[in-house]
Amino acid sequence: MTEITKNIDIAVSEILKGNVVALPTETVYGLGANGLNKNAVLKIYEVKKRPHFNPLILHIHSIDNLRKFAKHIPDEVYKLAESYSPGPITYVLEKKSIVPDIITAGLDSVAIRFPSHKMFRRVLKESGVPIAAPSANMFGRISPVTARDVYKELKGKINYILDGGRCEVGIESTVISFLNGRIKILRPGFVTQKDIEKVIGYKLKDIRIKQSGAMKKYLSPGMLKSHYAPLTPLYVVEDLNSLTKISKQNFYHIDLSKYKNLKSIASNLFKEFRIADEKKYDFITIQKVENIGLGIAINDRIEKASTGNIEMISSKSNSYLI
Ligand code: TXA
Ligand code: MG
Repeated sequence: MTEITKNIDIAVSEILKGNVVALPTETVYGLGANGLNKNAVLKIYEVKKRPHFNPLILHIHSIDNLRKFAKHIPDEVYKLAESYSPGPITYVLEKKSIVPDIITAGLDSVAIRFPSHKMFRRVLKESGVPIAAPSANMFGRISPVTARDVYKELKGKINYILDGGRCEVGIESTVISFLNGRIKILRPGFVTQKDIEKVIGYKLKDIRIKQSGAMKKYLSPGMLKSHYAPLTPLYVVEDLNSLTKISKQNFYHIDLSKYKNLKSIASNLFKEFRIADEKKYDFITIQKVENIGLGIAINDRIEKASTGNIEMISSKSNSYLI
């Protein structure tokens, strides 16, 4: 039986018992376990059916604890933390041996984040342990932004979901690597490249690295394609005129133009994916947003959720989506 609760004591006691519990963060819901308990962390992978090569984020309460888990912390981390932590930013740093290998998938680095959601912070404080947590969805699916989303996805698989309302940010944190004396954005998120450059005082060189071959192991598996995907095939539309050509087909178009800015698009994107998915059309279509600022993270999620580009498919097959 899976119960949705607002009782923080229950979440704390589940964590301390070595169980997994879904927790609200400001970005998306997380599936948390005691980060110092290997068996508890193992349960996260089991519940999500997440491959073991994909490392987890370790959530901690405050920057004062950072040195306990990471070494060689550059000044830029402290500068960024001053502006954005607690908040939707994750720092990839060299790990200390206290961090179990099961969290880092055997890498020498660990991803650390200080979530700002009040309930998550209370769970961290009251449990007194760091919490390992990926997004609370099955591997490869859309991250949940409400307790109900988590329930639909994980009911029967976990005991408790801590209900902290709708996640404000709506997309996952920006993941930044500080390894080898270089700063790289591994996963674009709410905190943009411009935001980062403003704080650190210089421009980043290669913004996002393509994941391929031997490098794979060292980059963020969140960069894998086919992530965050709805079950219904989703196609990106470059020109809205293509929609008139396929208008006889059974499809649903996600119209993002009704939102007033990029923040509210980010906040509603995964909800839109879920609504579209539940309508059970043959396929879903969506147009990307302008590729600047937060638009980069939004387009990244759209791309990862998509099966392809509708114009490309139509020109290849000569008929639409057979
Ligand atoms: O907003 C978020 O970050 C949410 C909430 C729950 O905190 N969490 C989240 O976790 O999105 P997850 O597991 O779905 O994504 C974590 C990302 C993955 O892309 C993972 O590969 C990357 O962080 N990551 C974790 N440890 C890493 C490491 N040592 N080096 C590089 N990437 C790492
Ligand atoms: Mg995820």
